[in-house]
Amino acid sequence: MAQIDLTDSIPNNVGLADQAGLSRTMAQFQADYMDWWRECGPQGFDAADVYLRMPTGVDSRGWATYAYSQLADFRWGLYQAELDEERRAVFGRLAGEPVLREVPGEFRDAMLKLLVTQADTEPASVEQITYLGRMAPSNYDLRNLFQINCEEGRHLWAIVHLLVAHFGKAGTQEVEGLLTRRSGSADNPRILNAFNSPIEEFLSFLFWSTLADRDGKFQLLSMSESAFDPLARTTRFMLFEEAHHMFVGDDGLRRVIQRTAELMQAHDTDDVAPHGGINLATLQRYMNYWAPQTIDLFGNELSSWSEDLFDAGLKGRPYEAEHHDEHVRLDDTLPVDVVADGALVRRDVPQRKAINEASRAIYLREIGTVVHRWNRMLGKMGIDFRFYVPDKRFNRRIGVYKDFHFSPMGEPVGAAAFQEGLADWLPSEAEQDHVKSLMQPVYEPGKIAGWIAPPTRGIDGKPVAYEYVRL
Ligand SMILES: [Fe+2]
Ligand SMILES: [Fe+2]
Repeated sequence: MAQIDLTDSIPNNVGLADQAGLSRTMAQFQADYMDWWRECGPQGFDAADVYLRMPTGVDSRGWATYAYSQLADFRWGLYQAELDEERRAVFGRLAGEPVLREVPGEFRDAMLKLLVTQADTEPASVEQITYLGRMAPSNYDLRNLFQINCEEGRHLWAIVHLLVAHFGKAGTQEVEGLLTRRSGSADNPRILNAFNSPIEEFLSFLFWSTLADRDGKFQLLSMSESAFDPLARTTRFMLFEEAHHMFVGDDGLRRVIQRTAELMQAHDTDDVAPHGGINLATLQRYMNYWAPQTIDLFGNELSSWSEDLFDAGLKGRPYEAEHHDEHVRLDDTLPVDVVADGALVRRDVPQRKAINEASRAIYLREIGTVVHRWNRMLGKMGIDFRFYVPDKRFNRRIGVYKDFHFSPMGEPVGAAAFQEGLADWLPSEAEQDHVKSLMQPVYEPGKIAGWIAPPTRGIDGKPVAYEYVRL
């Protein structure tokens, strides 16, 4: 297992000490990053001691330990999963060949664009929730929020390192933009639409962690088997961190639904708003609001950019080795809607041309299993309501469906009916106001806000009532 000197100003296992130029550039980045963190990181909790998971190694069995830390002192650093000298490329024209230490010249631009787009989402997701600590429903939830903030920040470090170490001047020049664009800014927004959507309350943060961090997981999975070995190792380490983000979303929403169901039973009503809960129908509307934005993140159905990256062995499909037998030509077809003469028609397209759509399909299936778990819980509690994943054609901004109108169930509707339908499909102003009114902070260990059930267990084997954040 590679040694990491935790006392280094930039702890790392990427050999920073032996690379003077890289080391200088990363030291400059560290200073600029901390300026950005002070402006865009969590506001109002500088003095808090937070029980944080921080990287200590790169071994999957022991890559992190927990300790109290102030947020600014999180162990930012550069970590890559262990080197496997024998590793061979998995897919594309390089399949079976030794992996690459650098990106071949002809793919550098495509790869740079991919990395900058990925890197940009990391600080964006911190900016979206700068103020959420003010409404955390418990001390435990406050800690999880901060854990995610810190790790998204560190994810920026991880990709910045790749840009600087492997893309020369062009890569280094991109770093400034990563620290100067701002989520939601009119003049200098983040690159991807969803990352400019404000997240104004804790409930939306839970949907975001379920939906957008899960998109993050699938993007990382697609890169974790890259023939560009530094990218594969970097993203494999990021995946260790990412799993917790999805847990925060999935389990957080389960707790909200459980609380609502309990209130429904206690008061014998579907309308739990007067009792300080969030109605199941309201939760479905929040799902309908957030899901299309994250479904968009997979990009256009047909993409020559993704096809080229696949062919070059640089970005694959999620679970490429595990779920697929054929990794080179991808002649197997996939039904994909395309626009012909102003109408949608279904065509069978070789999978290599529709990698984004193949990845999106796996993503949607996994969200389906999350929703299924919620529904099973409701069924066991004797409640008839069932959640659904909105159809991928509903309310899209990217891809072939963006110029057509569909209901969340996937039925085609006219433009007027669509506009009318939105009032019922998305959260109303009254529902949003109600949700916001519930967002009062609860910081006392062991206490919990009334709209969410307590977690079933604590962090790192500690009790639920542990003081995870000392304010
Ligand atoms: Fe991330
Ligand atoms: Fe994440």
